[in-house]
Amino acid sequence: MCGIVGYVGKKEATPLLLSALKRLEYRGYDSCGVGVISLKDGRIAVQKTPGKIQNLVDLLKTKDLPLSHVGISHTRWATHGKPTRSNAHPHADTSGKILIVHNGIIENYQELKAELQSKGYRFTSETDSEVIAHLIASFGRDDLFKAVQKTLKKLVGSFALGIISSDFPDRLIAARLGSPLIIGVGKDENFIASDVSAILEHTRKIIYLKDGEIADIRSDEVCVYDLSGRKVPAKIQTVSFKLDAVQKEGFPHFMLKEIHEQPEVLSAMLSLRLKKGMVVLEGIGLSDTALVQCRNIMIVACGTAYHAGLVGKYIIEQLACVPVAVDVSSEFRYRSPIIDKNTLVIAVSQSGETADTLAAVREAKARGAKVVSICNVVGSSLTRESDGVLYTHAGPEIGVASTKAYTAQLGMMYLLALKFAVIHKKLSGFRVQSLVKGLKEIPATLKKILKDKARIAKIARANAHFGSFLFLGRNVNFPSALEGALKLKEISYIPAEGYAAGEMKHGPIALIDEYRAVVCITPESDTYEKMISNMQEIRARKGKIIAIATDGDTGIRQHASNIIYVPKVDRLLTPLVTVLPLQLIAYYIAVARGNDVDQPRNLAKSVTVE
Ligand code: F6R
Repeated sequence: MCGIVGYVGKKEATPLLLSALKRLEYRGYDSCGVGVISLKDGRIAVQKTPGKIQNLVDLLKTKDLPLSHVGISHTRWATHGKPTRSNAHPHADTSGKILIVHNGIIENYQELKAELQSKGYRFTSETDSEVIAHLIASFGRDDLFKAVQKTLKKLVGSFALGIISSDFPDRLIAARLGSPLIIGVGKDENFIASDVSAILEHTRKIIYLKDGEIADIRSDEVCVYDLSGRKVPAKIQTVSFKLDAVQKEGFPHFMLKEIHEQPEVLSAMLSLRLKKGMVVLEGIGLSDTALVQCRNIMIVACGTAYHAGLVGKYIIEQLACVPVAVDVSSEFRYRSPIIDKNTLVIAVSQSGETADTLAAVREAKARGAKVVSICNVVGSSLTRESDGVLYTHAGPEIGVASTKAYTAQLGMMYLLALKFAVIHKKLSGFRVQSLVKGLKEIPATLKKILKDKARIAKIARANAHFGSFLFLGRNVNFPSALEGALKLKEISYIPAEGYAAGEMKHGPIALIDEYRAVVCITPESDTYEKMISNMQEIRARKGKIIAIATDGDTGIRQHASNIIYVPKVDRLLTPLVTVLPLQLIAYYIAVARGNDVDQPRNLAKSVTVE
């Protein structure tokens, strides 16, 4: 999704804005731009281009921007209008004195545009964002802050905004409603950014701007106001994660680095959350009595987080006997879900900014449900709107394709399932302890699989030519099949489908021939024999099988062309293990195809529009 960086201070703005903007590349974008106020003559200067930030850097070699201490920059992920130079941000008003960058969508832009055009304002782009610059100008040039305030009251939709004006060359105005924006507080310099990773090398002191807040930022002062202009306290928080966390540290891609971080992420989570064999869910915001009173659970999430939710359904129902429904967030809110005060809604989201999930949570709360979120980004919108938060603390996930955030979400689902099983008295102490022990062994198991990655890479490369893939799994590994297919299609662009293996005969079998690769997730399980039958059916139709099987399963060799062995773990815990080879298969196939693994085409890391 779009990225914003703004700066006001004493340093040269352009190089700083560009390097910070580069750290937001992972969010996904297709054009970019930078605008500054010239130190020499106070004029606004802008450069922008379709494509990558490197194009902008190259452009600036010939069309330099003036020396400046104040500026805003942007990566745009096209929604209204193609990724062209004129649609790229920043956008200026007709006088060229006001400059804005915007994330989000202005839903009423057409009416506003028509009104402004009738008054003589000239538009140069097809974007919804440009109206903001003209609207600010329409409220006069004497008081920038007031003009912004009046503008925001007219906007319907969502926004994170950075605004500068040549009439006020020492100020940067920021505002947010529904799209993330943070302020970085430095010494004699301040920043705005879409997320912390952009400015971490300059400051760790962060103000998380809340919805409906406007900030008036100078190099030595940050004042935050609500929409009515009342000053509100701005809490400065210090973020703890290291700069290393947003660098590749020798890995060719963030995705591979993040895949390798999974053992650590899980092990940190388990040591934080398992005390003396008991699950500690600090932050959940509900007492055990309140949790027991929840008659049913509804999980809402999108994409990969939805798959973590599906695993959650299997394990919570199997371990705790509490009914669980799982919805993709965009469906939940429009299907009139039957929920009340005895429903616990669990919202799962890496970013905590996914517009559909936020909307689902609002819908759930309006219907009286309690909402607990499982989230990775501290202070994100979702965490502020939930009754309780279970942070996954997986560290910043930069690769667009989610890997470590998924494993962390799964880890949290297992902890939740154990918690529910214990409070509902559905599991013997022995079974609880055996699952806790099994969970604690998973990080070491993942490390073992990672040691075998060269073999997995070889298998992936040998199959990279297939034009389509089918992923099959059963029971707790049906969601793994969905996740394997999603990972592959996201970064390799190969059509891939995930199915419950039992469904194969009800349609997908028609697709099987020698041109179709089928990944069968076949660890030791209660449905193992059924998976073997499916594999026979595929082989009979010349499908190429890649199996993910348990160490020591020699019998599977007669059914599959390629086998990736994973260590034996408790059957219920297998999704934590089988997903790793699936991530690696997707990664190595995408690399073999020469794709941009960390920033796959058309995708955004955080989907802040519905
Ligand atoms: C897939 C992926 C997406 C996200 C989805 C939800 O690799 O990253 O499918 O899982 O957009 O995002 P969050 O978890 O931030 O709500």
